[in-house]
Amino acid sequence: MRFTVAIDGPAAAGKGTIGRAVADRFGFAHLDTGLLYRAVGARLLRGERAIDAARGLTPDDLANPDALRIPDVAQAASKVAVIPEVREALLEFQRAFAHRIGGAVLDGRDIGTVICPRAEVKLFVTASPEVRAQRRMEEMAAKGIDIAYDDVLADVRARDARDTERAAAPMVAAEDAVTLDTSDLSIAAAIAAAVDLVAARRET
Ligand code: C5P
Repeated sequence: MRFTVAIDGPAAAGKGTIGRAVADRFGFAHLDTGLLYRAVGARLLRGERAIDAARGLTPDDLANPDALRIPDVAQAASKVAVIPEVREALLEFQRAFAHRIGGAVLDGRDIGTVICPRAEVKLFVTASPEVRAQRRMEEMAAKGIDIAYDDVLADVRARDARDTERAAAPMVAAEDAVTLDTSDLSIAAAIAAAVDLVAARRET
């Protein structure tokens, strides 16, 4: 059985949490595609050319996701993500993952538009920049990283702008995506909405 759930949206809107919960609920595999761009960004910060880094990415680059979930790497990720050759180098891996037997959930920015335009379910998960910055700050604080709210908000806005305005695979809701605004939703309610959508599509 092949079944793909594509989840797109801006940083800290809840894509990852929803994606993991949907994958657990249906026994699908889950890929956080942002980690691929973060891994390329991390190699750029170590002095490598972005295109070479993308072409040479190995599982080792993803072995320590927490080290990739820091603000400097996030900014570097959104810079390398504007380069078409970088996106091209990461495309096949994502498509193969999406088509694996047993079902897959992918979250990112261009899953429903470019990577899996024929995904069975497409979700665009969003929330206001202020709510997202607050969530990201709390996530970081839980890991012992203290960052000022204003800095997190500036980071979120800078990445939103870069991700939305780039020419290559910009962040945009697919025409057939269902938009889920999580600004005023609990995590449980957001997950329930996503699970209901997938369950309904599986029955058709
Ligand atoms: O989702 P995450 O915040 O980890 O993504 C980091 C950066 O990677 C994003 O700001 C975006 O520029 C890029 N990205 C992308 N396409 C994806 C996933 C992430 O361009 N499918």
